[in-house]
Amino acid sequence: MNQPLMGGVTAVNAPAFVKQQKLINWVAEVAALTKPDRIYWCDGSQEEYDRLCAEMVAAGTMKKLNQEKRPNSYLACSDPSDVARVEDRTFICSEKKEDAGPTNNWVAPAEMRTTLNGLFDGCMKGRTMYVVPFSMGPLGSHIAHIGVELSDSPYVVVNMRIMTRMGKAVYDVLGTDGNFVPAIHTVGKPLQAGEKDVAWPCNATKYIVHFPETREIWSYGSGYGGNALLGKKCFALRIASTMGRDQGWLAEHMLILGVESPEGEKHYVAAAFPSACGKTNFAMLIPPKAFNGWKVTTIGDDIAWIKPHADGRLYAINPEAGYFGVAPGTNTATNSNCMASLTANTIFTNVALTDDGDVWWEGMTKEAPAHVIDWQGKDWTPEIGKETGRKAAHPNARFTVAATQNPVIDPAWDDANGVPISAFIFGGRRSTTVPLVTEARNWIEGVYMAATMGSETTAAAAGQQGVVRRDPFAMLPFMGYNMSDYFQHWLDMGKKIEASGSALPKIYCVNWFRTDENGKFVWPGFGDNMRVLKWMLDRIAGTAGGVENIFGVTPQYGDLKWDGIDFTQAQFDRITSIDKAAWEAELKLHAELFDKLKYHLPAELEAAKAALEKRLAA
Ligand code: OXD
Ligand code: MN
Repeated sequence: MNQPLMGGVTAVNAPAFVKQQKLINWVAEVAALTKPDRIYWCDGSQEEYDRLCAEMVAAGTMKKLNQEKRPNSYLACSDPSDVARVEDRTFICSEKKEDAGPTNNWVAPAEMRTTLNGLFDGCMKGRTMYVVPFSMGPLGSHIAHIGVELSDSPYVVVNMRIMTRMGKAVYDVLGTDGNFVPAIHTVGKPLQAGEKDVAWPCNATKYIVHFPETREIWSYGSGYGGNALLGKKCFALRIASTMGRDQGWLAEHMLILGVESPEGEKHYVAAAFPSACGKTNFAMLIPPKAFNGWKVTTIGDDIAWIKPHADGRLYAINPEAGYFGVAPGTNTATNSNCMASLTANTIFTNVALTDDGDVWWEGMTKEAPAHVIDWQGKDWTPEIGKETGRKAAHPNARFTVAATQNPVIDPAWDDANGVPISAFIFGGRRSTTVPLVTEARNWIEGVYMAATMGSETTAAAAGQQGVVRRDPFAMLPFMGYNMSDYFQHWLDMGKKIEASGSALPKIYCVNWFRTDENGKFVWPGFGDNMRVLKWMLDRIAGTAGGVENIFGVTPQYGDLKWDGIDFTQAQFDRITSIDKAAWEAELKLHAELFDKLKYHLPAELEAAKAALEKRLAA
């Protein structure tokens, strides 16, 4: 039921379930600026979701998939210019430039507000402005926080319903005076009277803007993923990292998984990897057959909010309620739990459409179908693919699916108290240099490993792919403040936990991606990562061996369980060896990074680097 907007505060027509005047006033203010034809207050119901999807099917934004093969599922294909996060158009507009730090784009807030006020003036003309209330984290959890996104994209609304706890109940938690993060989103394509809409409206000009001090998000010009679903990267990482700095907690680009031994010993670990490095696969890992009785369960696949509890330990929640995962490469061998999650109730974006109304992407099946309609709506056959190099699915094609569809969801995934974290894992995509797994000898060494992480870039962000860039804590594109202050925050958190007398989580650095002379991955990865995970748990229990190397402790061949796999000592050496020359070159890159981050760089990290250099030279 869309209410016609007559202009002014009263025309906002907030339904009775909205109890907060501050929110109503803000909606009115934004409407006065953006001038939508209608305002619609979302209730998060299934009826609302179905109706919006049907409207988008009628408008050509989505296609309904074959109801028998993929019940209640849809395919959306974006404009070819709007397919990934736009890091170069992402801004942290803190009052002081130093507070955004050298890794972020910064514009003075007043200047940015002038720009945005110009762009947003009348940007929703001819469209509906949807009011989308959402909770990041279980409703009412003391670790959770609330946001409200105002968007002129129904695609955003239906995705937000899957990705967050979205709807009426949020207003109850918000009450008359609760806080929320205001997030404004527009595709930046107003419609003139009588103008026909396009299937995927967007604008060549894009701005993804954060005001950390006022905790505001403004997003202009894109309808895709992290640019538009503002609960995810914008709120749960960039704004939340700032909240965490101010309030003594952590917002991290981490999956959270539970791992239980056959004896019933259960641990939770949080793992940070850059985008499109297999976080969803690791979070849903299926242990190899030889690990009979071991269970891995998922709390989250992308983001963790971690707060210290009264017992001194760190507890984590997944602030999201769904997965916005990369489809290409996902199949029943790499991640059968994920494939099982996607059998129904899924929104696919930028994958290919099969002739029988189902979806397909590169790597989904061994053999490609004889014919599909590719993500750009063109005919595609394996021959065309070979001749032109054109992919049927965009490399950053995605699925949006509710976490509850994951067959290995952890029973505590929605627990308002979160789960205690026993270890942190940091991993980059490195074809050389970094060994399979290393344990930090102490918290500072672990923070150093995470801070200096490098990774080869992927299609999750627009720009060049496959170049190694430093990606501290896998947070480079998602940091809401000065990176060196963030390192200090991690060091301070460690000191606080130690002072409370609680055991600090162990910190590990992993690399699944070392290649051989033919460029082939040596480590099988996927389920076999369980072997590495088990070694970590044994280390936590104090039962596993390991040897010290220049930058931590690594297992020897005999320290890992090899049952059920033919993986030789020589192969193991290949992915665990430390090449002195490569490390000398690597340390030069650490030095370059530290030079870039020298403002507020913690002295402990400089000292950790000096110690590492000394060990390397010895
Ligand atoms: C994501 C990303 O979508 O990291 O999770 O890009
Ligand atoms: Mn991510």
